[in-house]
Amino acid sequence: MTIPAAPLTPYRPRVFSGVQPTGNLHLGNYLGAIKRFVDLQDEHECVYCVVDMHAITLPQAPLELRRATREVAAAFIAAGIDPKKQIIFNQSQVSAHAELAWIFNCIARIGWLNRMTQFKEKAGKDRENASVGLYAYPTLMAADILAYRATHVPVGEDQKQHLELTRDIAQKFNFDFADRIRALGLESGEFFPLPEPLIAGPAPRVMSLRDGTKKMSKSDPSDYSRINLTDDADAIAQKVRKAKTDPEPLPGEVAGLAARPEAENLVTIFAALSGRETASILGEFGGGQFSTFKNALVDLAVEKLSPIGEEMRRLVDDASAIDAILLDGAERARALADPVLRQVREIMGFLGR
Ligand code: TYM
Repeated sequence: MTIPAAPLTPYRPRVFSGVQPTGNLHLGNYLGAIKRFVDLQDEHECVYCVVDMHAITLPQAPLELRRATREVAAAFIAAGIDPKKQIIFNQSQVSAHAELAWIFNCIARIGWLNRMTQFKEKAGKDRENASVGLYAYPTLMAADILAYRATHVPVGEDQKQHLELTRDIAQKFNFDFADRIRALGLESGEFFPLPEPLIAGPAPRVMSLRDGTKKMSKSDPSDYSRINLTDDADAIAQKVRKAKTDPEPLPGEVAGLAARPEAENLVTIFAALSGRETASILGEFGGGQFSTFKNALVDLAVEKLSPIGEEMRRLVDDASAIDAILLDGAERARALADPVLRQVREIMGFLGR
């Protein structure tokens, strides 16, 4: 007996994003992504994922991976995401991600992946020796998002190209299987949404404190290049005071920041942390000593970040509580993703239920 499949349902608005558990979470991750996850949670249904399967595209020590996974979950919660209201979980607990990634490996074209700049950066010169997973990283990312048929994805600027690839994959899937999707009851033929990247906010690209032309990054060998979310007040103060600047005082007008990447970065960080406009900050500090501005930035950064760092440390100390939150989140994530995967199997022509 064949059980008739339920008709395919249209997608609904939903937010999805992910953060890798690969070491130091920093101010760029916070301002470009995590802070914005918090802002979205009141108005939207959100799914926030610690992407441990993405982490292993580069070698990870198992015990460190566990610690870092808990730490990212702790950062989500400490920053203000409510794990009861929204879903927080780690990717490897929900097998739909890996399953859909395989299907997308068969949808995406090699030429598309060859264009990914992040692979080129991460693989470096020794490309032959990079893992196949690092190369296929973006198809797993597309699967993360589309397993929930998510419509909006808050990310920093550096993820833009991956989001474009996700849209290409969604579009090709819808196109290749349009007849089948319609035959299964979805008239629009649009099974997957083309997810919108939300790359907004004042700081979609926070730069290194040592070099205003380079992105703030977990992998920068200099710890002085970034403010980590777990840095204490002394570390924050030292890093801001040592941050590279140029010899000129701050300008009084926004146009005066052009071609001054370090000054622009610090003012952008100030704006993002304070919620103030750049023009008002320059109105207050323009023409004055850099040190006066830096002192104010230290006070602001300590005020905003120290409570998050302290709460993260407290949460990470109670590993079993974090693990319980991730387990509960994974169950709720599965309840969303498993039906999507059943529909995908039906569309593809895989037999079984
Ligand atoms: P990851 O773990 O490198 O970074 C997490 C988030 O932080 C943002 N970010 C920054 N934003 C502003 N300035 C910076 N200097 C800065 N550095 C990092 C990143 O843009 C990101 O939003 N591939 C993703 C993880 C991922 C994902 C997903 C994201 C996997 N699956 C699905 C969205 C949807 C990554 O490596 O992020």
